[in-house]
Amino acid sequence: MRNNIVYSGAGELTYEIREIVNVAQKIESMGVKIAWENIGDPVQKGHKVPLWIKQIVRDIVMSDDMAFAYSPTKGLLETREYIAKERNKKSEKNNAIAKSASKNVAGAKISANDILFFNGLGDAISRVYSNLNEHVRVIGPNPAYSTHSSAEASHASSPHITYRLLPHRNWTPDIEDLRNKIKYSPAIGGILIINPDNPTGIVYSKEILKQIVDIACEFDLFIVADEIYTNIVYGGAVMTELSDVIGDVPGMSMKGLSKEVPWPGSRCGWIEFYNTDKDPIFARYVKSLVDAKMLEVCSTTLPQKALPKILSDARYPDYLAENNKIYDRRAEVFYKTFSKVDGVTCVRPQGALYATVVFDEGVLKADQTLPIEKAEIKKYIEPLVKNISLDKRFVYYLLASTGICVVPLSGFNSDLPGFRITLLEVDDSKFKKNLETIAEAIRKYLKS
Ligand SMILES: Cc1ncc(COP(=O)(O)O)c(C=O)c1O
Repeated sequence: MRNNIVYSGAGELTYEIREIVNVAQKIESMGVKIAWENIGDPVQKGHKVPLWIKQIVRDIVMSDDMAFAYSPTKGLLETREYIAKERNKKSEKNNAIAKSASKNVAGAKISANDILFFNGLGDAISRVYSNLNEHVRVIGPNPAYSTHSSAEASHASSPHITYRLLPHRNWTPDIEDLRNKIKYSPAIGGILIINPDNPTGIVYSKEILKQIVDIACEFDLFIVADEIYTNIVYGGAVMTELSDVIGDVPGMSMKGLSKEVPWPGSRCGWIEFYNTDKDPIFARYVKSLVDAKMLEVCSTTLPQKALPKILSDARYPDYLAENNKIYDRRAEVFYKTFSKVDGVTCVRPQGALYATVVFDEGVLKADQTLPIEKAEIKKYIEPLVKNISLDKRFVYYLLASTGICVVPLSGFNSDLPGFRITLLEVDDSKFKKNLETIAEAIRKYLKS
């Protein structure tokens, strides 16, 4: 071509969660039944959407032609008002408790104007980083949900800067590491938190969140909190939202319908912005996100119409609690299975839809293998495992040997070798059997 039309950040765009599908589909075409443990879509994994939710959506479709119309750029006003009212109710309650204990009031208050709808959080994430000044960096967790790390790296045409989550300390963020990186990298203008976390399944404690807010305050940074799993919390964990602790720090919380309703195909997510009035630069940045959305016109209308009706339905809290009980049960099976395997570390997840296994330092080698029954599959996989990260090598052998498709941790912008599974298999015995098969494969692989 006359000009190089490729964007300088193009090399940073990777999404292992879907890339592994190509390899798995090839193996499937050779006659292997695949257990899809890679994608966090509860519906695709067989989760039944309750009839009452379907009825809400049906009634809107049948009675309201405006559900087929464009919505205002920021999103439907009545829906944003509903979200703001619920947020403020929660903040007022928290602030009253803090006041009575003579503690600082830190709960954020918002109005409908502080909310912006997107076509799913995938869209929101892409916009947040692509509209950021290219010289400013957002530091994020390692491991991290790769849509964030890739989009941030692509915006700066440079690898994502990360702080460590520590597997041997229940995946707690390494606050010292975070602080030092911020202190010595003046380009860092924001901190990303994913809570509850994908891929580790941890839920941040209030104390940790406060420490992160304090660091943001000290260095004059903004906070991005991806809280799409806010209502998927179990095992006794208590969810603290960014809005509970943010105080005067500029920040944003990303929320969505994909995981908890679940309705990922609705492509409906939103951002709540906090403290835009406290910093003119932050306010200008938020305006640029709204302006960019205006060029696109708006986000999906139907799910915005359904949102207040679903979330305020008296059946919704019980429905969430029931789902969380199921995830908790699967988290326990996960922990029981992998805590008995030598050479790996696992933490019992307490939120989101995932669990992560980390290989201990030095146990993975470049010549380890698993038996592959079919010669055709062996011939396909062997060239693919040359010169790839050691955890990806294990994942490819696991796929070729057992048909179980998981995602290597290196695909989550991580320097820890491991893999992520989901807690979404609806058939309990199949879930248990898949985990046992993976555990057995690890034992065999490490001995090979
Ligand atoms: C942490 C996190 N944020 C955002 C998303 C994307 O959500 P959406 O379906 O709204 O694009 C996912 C999807 O897996 C996720 O795990």
